[in-house]
Amino acid sequence: MNRLDGKVALISGAARGIGAETARLMAEAGARFGGLDILVNNAGVFLGMSLEEATLADWHRVCGVNLTGVFLGTKLSAPALRESGHRSAHGSAIVNLASVAGLVGSSNDPLYSMTKGGVTLFTKSAALEFARKGYRIRVNSMHPGTIDTDMGDQVLAIRARNLGTNDLEPARQQTLNRIPIGRMGTVSDIAKGIVFLASDDAGFMTGAGLVVDGGITAQ
Ligand SMILES: NC(=O)c1ccc[n+]([C@@H]2O[C@H](COP(=O)([O-])OP(=O)(O)OC[C@H]3O[C@@H](n4cnc5c(N)ncnc54)[C@H](O)[C@@H]3O)[C@@H](O)[C@H]2O)c1
Repeated sequence: MNRLDGKVALISGAARGIGAETARLMAEAGARFGGLDILVNNAGVFLGMSLEEATLADWHRVCGVNLTGVFLGTKLSAPALRESGHRSAHGSAIVNLASVAGLVGSSNDPLYSMTKGGVTLFTKSAALEFARKGYRIRVNSMHPGTIDTDMGDQVLAIRARNLGTNDLEPARQQTLNRIPIGRMGTVSDIAKGIVFLASDDAGFMTGAGLVVDGGITAQ
């Protein structure tokens, strides 16, 4: 028996990166079509601009995907998740992709950090609202560190630019030096955590954040 046998999952932004690997692992763990048991609000964009560079239009763009997307995904999926939650031993599940930048500040991208901080507290608030209403929908957040995806490359490019070079190597080295485990994260590191939060193994977790960052925020 796989951990998600018979469950149906909706993952936003699953074309590549963390979302694509999560879809693959969830299918492997038994998830199939029909109804809705799991929502993964994964779609997100990195801005990579300082406060002084970013325009109001930039803010609206990052906010539209990272915050409005999570709000609407949650709101529109809630009726179906509520329905399936009453049929499952541990309820249905929402996993929101936040970031370590939603726990501590980011000197490279303060607007991205502001949206991910919003996702962190929205997760806790949605968990509390659903519990208060007696809905059996668990809501938790995932907080990745620097992960080797297209977005991870964008992060390195901005760090390189802020070091005054187009060469990504010094930025990669600087990033590795800050990670106690000594490597960047993989999509699999994150997808495994998402599958756990979505599964009945996390049946006593709601309003919580799972940090998968190689130890960056332990310092
Ligand atoms: N890679 C990292 O280092 C890292 C670190 C912390 C958090 N995260 C978060 O994890 C999530 C996934 O990141 P990733 O590294 O896989 O990024 P990625 O850039 O590789 O993939 C992002 C996915 O989101 C989709 N997307 C973007 N805008 C969209 C929109 N308007 N509508 C629908 N889909 C849209 C893209 O098509 C893509 O499939 C994001 O929320 C990101 O903020 C990533």
